[in-house]
Amino acid sequence: MSQGNGGGRFRSGHSYGKLDRDGFIHRSWMKSQGLPDDVFDGRPVIGICNTWSEITPCNAGLRDLAEHVKRGVWEAGGLPLEFPAMSLGETQMRPTAMLFRNLLAMDVEESIRGNPIDGVVLLGGCDKTTPGQMMGAASVDLPTIVVSTGPMLNGKFRGKDIGSGTDVWKFSEAVRAGEMTLPEFMSAESGMSRSPGTCMTMGTASTMAAIVEAMGMCLPYNASIPAVDARRAAMAHHTGRTIVRMVHDGLTMSQVATRAAFENALRVHAAIGGSTNAVVHLLALAGRLGVELSLEDFDNLSRDVPLLVDLQPSGRFLMEDLHYAGGLPAVMKQMAPFLNPEAPTVSGVRIGEQYEKAEVFNAEVIRSVEAPVKPDSGIWVLRGNLAPGGAVMKPSAASPELCSHRGKAVVFETIEDFRARIDDPTLDVDASSILVLKGCGPKGYPGMPEVGNMPLPTKLLEKGVKDMVRISDARMSGTAFGTVILHVSPESDAGGPLAVVRNGDEIALDGPSRSLNLLISDEELASRLAVWRANPPAPKATRGYAKLYIDHVLGADKGADLDFLVGASGSVVTRESH
Ligand code: FES
Ligand code: MG
Repeated sequence: MSQGNGGGRFRSGHSYGKLDRDGFIHRSWMKSQGLPDDVFDGRPVIGICNTWSEITPCNAGLRDLAEHVKRGVWEAGGLPLEFPAMSLGETQMRPTAMLFRNLLAMDVEESIRGNPIDGVVLLGGCDKTTPGQMMGAASVDLPTIVVSTGPMLNGKFRGKDIGSGTDVWKFSEAVRAGEMTLPEFMSAESGMSRSPGTCMTMGTASTMAAIVEAMGMCLPYNASIPAVDARRAAMAHHTGRTIVRMVHDGLTMSQVATRAAFENALRVHAAIGGSTNAVVHLLALAGRLGVELSLEDFDNLSRDVPLLVDLQPSGRFLMEDLHYAGGLPAVMKQMAPFLNPEAPTVSGVRIGEQYEKAEVFNAEVIRSVEAPVKPDSGIWVLRGNLAPGGAVMKPSAASPELCSHRGKAVVFETIEDFRARIDDPTLDVDASSILVLKGCGPKGYPGMPEVGNMPLPTKLLEKGVKDMVRISDARMSGTAFGTVILHVSPESDAGGPLAVVRNGDEIALDGPSRSLNLLISDEELASRLAVWRANPPAPKATRGYAKLYIDHVLGADKGADLDFLVGASGSVVTRESH
């Protein structure tokens, strides 16, 4: 009998390698699943952390994909064990899936650490699942690799391609402007989402998958192979082989996700026109790994990187097109002068080796640095008396003529207040106004929802207005666009200056100089804030996870992690359970 051999080489040996009562307990119950004796011979035990769920439709393909990972693990001499993690469906969960990103991270962290697992494969894709899983895994720091869901097939409507999210925003504004009928709008629903997979625009899911690939945390092409393409299953199979090798080599997550990997990721983020949500997720992830990363890094590192990928919402095409044009390796090849080719990857090779031989097959989708889609990309980090902790905007999705703008505030205290009044014909608003929304930060909603891309007033849409400056402490969907200033910190519910903006106040945005200011005197601002502090709003929850979250969540400028989750507890095997 070979079970029990190899006692302490890997952490699973502390459970499966013991020839005593405790080893009996750890092995015997596992054998109820039909596992033979010799799989407990000291081989690497690979946890497959799966966020498959029928109410996370984007991740619906992950149950099948896990089987392909298992094939590769078995083949390489590992023992694959799949386990579920809380799944977060971006389009289904209220008040916002973001409220639960940190809860998923806790679930993943404790599930990995508490179990006899030596390496882990993270299966996720829908917006919050990728960062939540990575944050949790980072705080354990075992060998870790990601297999993403992959993007869904391009949407189709009346003979044209349509993009997840982006065309929802466009079509719903067209209905309100009287350019599209409601039945036409509804008929686009089934054509938009034609297969399992994540939003096929460069929304948050595609952005996070691209970041994972740029960081070397997955096999090449993970970001772009369509969810239903057989090549994704083959990549999952290879991933199973790779994770077993990583365990043998002791290649842990923190050895791959280094500062160099983050820098590459931030530059790739700019080249792809990535989602603003990546800012909060990467700040939180860096915090788990102990990597120095600041809000300003996003601006500084992306400053010279142009927009190279012509994908919605910043451009025209969709993820299938990106894959057929050469995928992320081809993008990285184009922007090679901006990247550090020495950064490590889960494959054990330098990242440069993965993109050096890549080719661009469609120069319209993946442009060159000499002829980019747009010269300005990445993230602008704005500061000023309205956002002392910073705010972000995405210049590639903004209107150039509004990037420096001065206007009068039209203030909404909550998103419900906004919805109730935005189409009131008597609302005092014109195209030069600045829409200001409060109460949508991490503490304020709670959970920091994607409502920052406030719809424009119908009366202005009817006049042909297509964009306005909008400011809030919310996030916006990675599929959204417009001159939208987000993540204002501190948030209004934490007593940030946003809390005391009044109707008619003048606000000055100067994108090129990165400033955002409320044009009132320091004395006036101080006295308004003193009044606010004397009577702050009641917390939005008094029990349960939401209370824990409100009591401990950090600001968006720090990644909105819970304060006690920053850092890592490692993979130490704790005390016996019996
Ligand atoms: Fe799940 Fe967009 S809603 S990826
Ligand atoms: Mg989203």
